[in-house]
Amino acid sequence: MHQFSETELTEAVVRSFEDAPDPRVKFLLQELVKSLHDYVRKTSLSFEEWEYAIDFLTRTGQKCTPIRQEFILLSDVLGVSMLVDAVNHRERGGATETTVLGPFYVGEHKEMPHGADISPDSQSGQKLFVQARVTDVAGKPLAGVPVDVWHADDGGLYDSQKPNYATTGPSARARFVTDLDGRIFFRSVVPCSYPVPIDGPTGELIRQTGRHPMRPAHIHFVVAAPGYEPLVTHLFIGGDKYLDSDVVFGVKDELIAKVEKRSDAVMPDGKPAPSEWNLMTYEFHLKPGKGTPPTPLGIKLGEYA
Ligand code: BEZ
Ligand code: FE
Repeated sequence: MHQFSETELTEAVVRSFEDAPDPRVKFLLQELVKSLHDYVRKTSLSFEEWEYAIDFLTRTGQKCTPIRQEFILLSDVLGVSMLVDAVNHRERGGATETTVLGPFYVGEHKEMPHGADISPDSQSGQKLFVQARVTDVAGKPLAGVPVDVWHADDGGLYDSQKPNYATTGPSARARFVTDLDGRIFFRSVVPCSYPVPIDGPTGELIRQTGRHPMRPAHIHFVVAAPGYEPLVTHLFIGGDKYLDSDVVFGVKDELIAKVEKRSDAVMPDGKPAPSEWNLMTYEFHLKPGKGTPPTPLGIKLGEYA
C-alpha cells in the first residue's frame, strides 16, 4: 500500500478530482483542498482543535431555521461575504457600490404605494422620509423597477427576530416600484445600530475573541432591473459611531447617506409632517449586465412558529 507524506497527501486528494466532469467544480474543489491542507500544515492543527472546528460547524448548521441563517452570519463576521462581494464587483464603472445581503432578507416583500409608512407601529422612533431614485450609470431614470427595502427598527431588531413575527407579519420591510422618473419614496423611522445575533456559535466566536457585535445603522436595498446587474446594498446613517468598526466589514464611504434633520411643515410629497423629522435622499446607479437577484429566505407567514 502506498504511504503519503504530508505534501503527497495533498497532491493525491487534488488528483482525485482530476476527472470531475465540470471544470469549475474541479477547480473549486482542488483549490479548496490545497487551502485547507495548507492551513492544517501551517497551524499544526491539534486533534482537539479539529474536533472543536467540527463541533462548531455542526452547531452552526443546527442553529439554522427557515428564517435564521447562521452560516451567512458566520461568513459575514469572518469577512468572507464582503470578499465575495469585492471579487464580483471589481469594476463599478459609476454604478452604486454593493455590500452584504445579511441574513434578514426573509419572507415576502409586499409592494406598497409610494409614501407608505413601513413602520406604522413604531411609537418611539424618529420619523424618517426616504426619497430615492434609480438611474443607469449615465443618469437615465429607470421606471418600473422593484426596490426591496428592509431595516431594523429603532430598537435594533428586524421584524423576523421578534417572537410575534408569524402573526403580526412584516414591518420595516416592503417593496416599492419606481415611477416614470425612477423615483420611490416612503416613510419609516430612523434605524439604530444593532448587534448581530450572538446567541449562536458566531456570537460565541465574537465574544471569545473580544470583538464587538455591532453594525452601524442602515437600511437595506435590493434593486433588480432587467438588463442591469442586480444591486444589493445598504444606505448607512451618517454619523453612526460604528461606521469605522462594522462587525461584518460592510461599510463603504459612498453608501453613507446624509440624513438631514427637518422641521418643515410638509414632507416632500406634500403631506403634513410631524414637528421634527429626518430626510434621506439618495440616487442608485445601475450597471448594464445580468445576474439573478437574491431570493428572500423561504418563509410564508404562518408557516413558521
Ligand atoms: C444585516 O445587516 O442585516 C446583517 C448583515 C450581516 C450580519 C448580520 C446582519
Ligand atoms: Fe441590516
